[in-house]
Amino acid sequence: MKKIGICGTGLMGASMAQIFAEQGYETWIYGRTDASLSRAEKIIHLGDEHSVNYTTDLEDLKDCEIIIESIVENLDTKQDFFERISKIVMPETILATNTSGLSINKICERVQGKERFLGMHWFNPSNLIPLIEIIRNDETSDGYVQQVYTLAEAIGKKPVICQNDVAGFIANRIQFAVLRECMDIVEKGTATPEDVDKVMKYGLGFRYAAYGPFEVADFGGLDTFYHISEYLNKDLCDEKEPQKLIKDLYEQECYGVKSGRGFYDYSDGRDKEAVSLRDKKFEDMKKLQDSWE
Ligand SMILES: NC(=O)c1ccc[n+]([C@@H]2O[C@H](COP(=O)([O-])OP(=O)(O)OC[C@H]3O[C@@H](n4cnc5c(N)ncnc54)[C@H](O)[C@@H]3O)[C@@H](O)[C@H]2O)c1
Repeated sequence: MKKIGICGTGLMGASMAQIFAEQGYETWIYGRTDASLSRAEKIIHLGDEHSVNYTTDLEDLKDCEIIIESIVENLDTKQDFFERISKIVMPETILATNTSGLSINKICERVQGKERFLGMHWFNPSNLIPLIEIIRNDETSDGYVQQVYTLAEAIGKKPVICQNDVAGFIANRIQFAVLRECMDIVEKGTATPEDVDKVMKYGLGFRYAAYGPFEVADFGGLDTFYHISEYLNKDLCDEKEPQKLIKDLYEQECYGVKSGRGFYDYSDGRDKEAVSLRDKKFEDMKKLQDSWE
């Protein structure tokens, strides 16, 4: 692939445009207004040898080999967008959505050529997190999945394929299963949020940065893991609604780093400190992971 069209000029779209441009692809970013393109221009930092093409005209994307949509997380807006773009681009242009969790089948309901439509789910900060989930709809062809897989690897990412259009795809199903149990542990007074985070950072997450849950189980011994499952599974949290701990914070508009308060306090400049420390840790982690491979 040579010509890439990114649609959406927000946090994720701008970052993706930067990644493709840095890798030498002819990269176009589409925004509805000049103002939104200027906002993206402020996020994108490239050396003299690379550039991004900015446009408010979808026609400029008509000969792109792939369109990656990263506009607002709203089903109607995404459906409208893809109905429109699918009529502009070539019949074989791959159409990819970076939705966090909306149904891939629903987003492409009005698309011409559903076999070339799929989810391409990136993770924030997308310049540092290697994972990309590729999600099939009921009609996505193998050839298009393979092309996106190859493209993701070509830009240094680690793609996985989600074969079914399930809610949360793969990563968010795991993330929210873990978070639900963590909140239950705190709500029952078993541990503080600080200690739960320590358990992840210095125990489970420490292992997970190097080995996935199936590898960890193989090292631990499946007989032991089987016996633990026998008594523990029935005791684990299976709450179906958002839990009180997060609901209370949500209702107080404590949204985490972006609002200065979440489970922890990020007031008085601690928000910026937290983000730059996070990026430094992820950079170090990426170098370490790369050195293992
Ligand atoms: N932020 C994350 O952590 C993250 C991670 C993975 C996936 N995503 C997904 O990526 C997508 C974008 O998220 P974001 O964080 O970049 O959001 P954002 O709010 O930073 O950007 C959204 C952009 O979409 C534009 N937009 C809205 N309606 C549009 C339309 N009709 N046509 C063209 N552009 C339109 C807005 O002007 C804005 O620039 C969402 O689907 C989101 O769920 C976000």
